[in-house]
Amino acid sequence: MAEKKITVFIYLPGETVAVPAGILTYDSDLKVGSFAYGRRYIERKNALPVDPVALPIGPPPQEVMINKGLYGSFRDATPDFWGRLVIAAERKVPPEALSETDFLLETNATRVGNLDFRLSLNDPEPTLKPPHFNQMEQVLDSAARIEAGEEVSNHLLRLLYQGSSVGGARPKCTVEWKNTLWIAKFPSMGDTLDIPRIEYATMSLAESCGIRIPELLLESAGEKNILLVRRFDREKKGRYGWARKGFLSALSLMQWDENDRLLWDYRGIADIMRRYSTAVNIQELFCRMVFNILVRNTDDHPRNHGFLFSGDRLELSPAYDIVPSLTQPGVDTDFNLAMSVGENGREASLKNALSHAARFAFSLKAARAIVEHLVEITRGWREHFETVGCSDREIKALEPSFARCENVDLLSRIP
Ligand SMILES: Nc1ncnc2c1ncn2[C@@H]1O[C@H](COP(=O)(O)OP(=O)(O)O)[C@@H](O)[C@H]1O
Ligand SMILES: [Mg+2]
Repeated sequence: MAEKKITVFIYLPGETVAVPAGILTYDSDLKVGSFAYGRRYIERKNALPVDPVALPIGPPPQEVMINKGLYGSFRDATPDFWGRLVIAAERKVPPEALSETDFLLETNATRVGNLDFRLSLNDPEPTLKPPHFNQMEQVLDSAARIEAGEEVSNHLLRLLYQGSSVGGARPKCTVEWKNTLWIAKFPSMGDTLDIPRIEYATMSLAESCGIRIPELLLESAGEKNILLVRRFDREKKGRYGWARKGFLSALSLMQWDENDRLLWDYRGIADIMRRYSTAVNIQELFCRMVFNILVRNTDDHPRNHGFLFSGDRLELSPAYDIVPSLTQPGVDTDFNLAMSVGENGREASLKNALSHAARFAFSLKAARAIVEHLVEITRGWREHFETVGCSDREIKALEPSFARCENVDLLSRIP
């Protein structure tokens, strides 16, 4: 039987060394996982759940069969397409040759959240040693070669690998700079526009709308622009240590399967947040949803919404990965978000967003006022994008994506 026992470690708040919390038993044939807290861990006064929703401290929970048998916060601590590509390159095998537990165990200390996974209780504490910003040109070179499927020298690959454990599909690497950690998001091989600059512009526009975002820097290395997004789950502690925060994506909070897209629904997230979070957070989720409509961010799937937790209280993490989807002029002026919005399902319209305002802890009047405010700010997108240095060609290419917020009749059609 292909059963593996993996010790799950947690960095308790303010601590820089992890303690064992329990054992994950994983059947890689059936792709079923089960977790049990250790007795000594439960007896700790400061014990916190490793996943407050799927795994509250208490009687052994149900085994998990969705998402290939990984509980939400465990899966969130494992990389997606990009990090898996880098791990496979480091191991000199194709990604398909590695299993879910290989990825879980190979992921290094730059993984998202406050967990770690080790085969044995006695395995050493992993060091968190991502590249420094001044090595960026080499890291970029390494990432470009991986994307192109080219050979990379072991030295270069190691640099990239040491920072490549966060999720997402685009090329990126955690880097250390200015005494803190950042996710450096790179241009990708197929980009026709300067995506790091466009992401910077869109995220800072979101900030003008009152949406919380991480600190951002737009930097360049060699000929390329890179977006630096300050990591919200790590904080320097002492000279070498890092304290960590628990992270849960909305997909994990909801215990949705990543292939079960029909279930994905902003209103469902808002309902669960009533139990674990606050009305202010629910209202901010509404603002993020409306902003996604206004800037045509259709990649707003539930892994692109996150929560930070300590104990069983959840707070929306600063927003991330908000980029307009590109579209042709006049084509697809009606579009859908990745999750349901209101009575008309995923339809990306303000009317639909307002149809169930009460689910987002708003009266219709208050929700309408917020929407009007967001429309007013996003209508100024052109000047904002110019100010942050987007070219005329880029702004032209983005015009169809911003058609929603520029349609003057929009609000008059809202009941
Ligand atoms: N500022 C941040 N701090 C910590 N983790 C983050 C931060 N921003 C994003 N993440 C995590 O990294 C993952 C990948 O980042 P994202 O910007 O979504 O990349 P991509 O564009 O490749 O999808 C996210 O799904 C989230 O889990
Ligand atoms: Mg993403």
